[in-house]
Amino acid sequence: MVSPPSTHASYQLVRVAGGASAVYAAAYAEKMHPGAGPAAEAEALHVRQLQVAERLRAATGEFVIWDVGLGAAANAIAVLRATRELSCPLRLISFDNTLEPLRFALQHQEALGYVHPYGPALQALAETGQLRFTDGAHDVSWQLQLGDFPAWLAAPQLSGVPAPHAIMFDAFSPARNPAMWTLPLFTNLFQALDPERPCNLATYSRSTMIRVTLLLAGFFVGRGGAAGMKEETTVAANTLKLIAAPLDHRWLERARRSDCAEPLCASTYSRAALATESWIKLQSHRQFNP
Ligand SMILES: C[S@@+](CC[C@H](N)C(=O)[O-])C[C@H]1O[C@@H](n2cnc3c(N)ncnc32)[C@H](O)[C@@H]1O
Repeated sequence: MVSPPSTHASYQLVRVAGGASAVYAAAYAEKMHPGAGPAAEAEALHVRQLQVAERLRAATGEFVIWDVGLGAAANAIAVLRATRELSCPLRLISFDNTLEPLRFALQHQEALGYVHPYGPALQALAETGQLRFTDGAHDVSWQLQLGDFPAWLAAPQLSGVPAPHAIMFDAFSPARNPAMWTLPLFTNLFQALDPERPCNLATYSRSTMIRVTLLLAGFFVGRGGAAGMKEETTVAANTLKLIAAPLDHRWLERARRSDCAEPLCASTYSRAALATESWIKLQSHRQFNP
């Protein structure tokens, strides 16, 4: 059970099922990390599924993570916490179109619980948009890309931002935040990857529509583990080697029968069965034709 927000401010503190405090965004009428709470959910959904610690341990140079939807920074902080004893340098690039939830988190550090000891780093990020610091055994470079993520991705050159090794994709839901879940966005995201740099992406959505969208954008896609209230999530990557449980032909058949599988092509939410053209493209995806 979740306690309802108590005021009508843009961002509010709410208590979620596990007893942790989380942030509610009134504009979207949604909570960030609604299930197990920010720290536990960020750890289960992003840090563990993306194998962040294992991959940093094996990396030879800087490891780049795109944090899409910085929000109240729970995902970013979970990465910092999980990697601080590793020597590999970390480059964190956080995207959002507003700093309001970050400022809200800074004002409610104690209640949220997960911010300490990264309050000063968050403050510096909010004030200057980038910082470098030594955290435990490694150097961290943290950069903020403030603005509309779909528009930034669609730009011909990505302003010197390096291609990621991992992506934490954490927008609000497709129904409330459709601009962040379109096929053009994920197509541009896939094209922004370096084909020579293995990259995985985790997201809480397990919907057929989002999985079809990722596949048609070029990703390999698999079932992700449980996280928060979700018994299953989604992991995608530009190599099958980073997918533990790839979607199979049985999933493909279910997608064909689904009444909500066709990707969004614009920033309006809609539900539709797969179009013939999408079905043809899906069947010929490398994942189903090894
Ligand atoms: C679910 S919240 C992210 C929670 C965050 N990852 C955390 O750990 O606290 C989604 C975030 O996506 C951001 N967002 C929504 N639409 C966006 C857009 N078009 N461009 C960039 N960011 C966007 C919102 O402002 C919000 O902070």
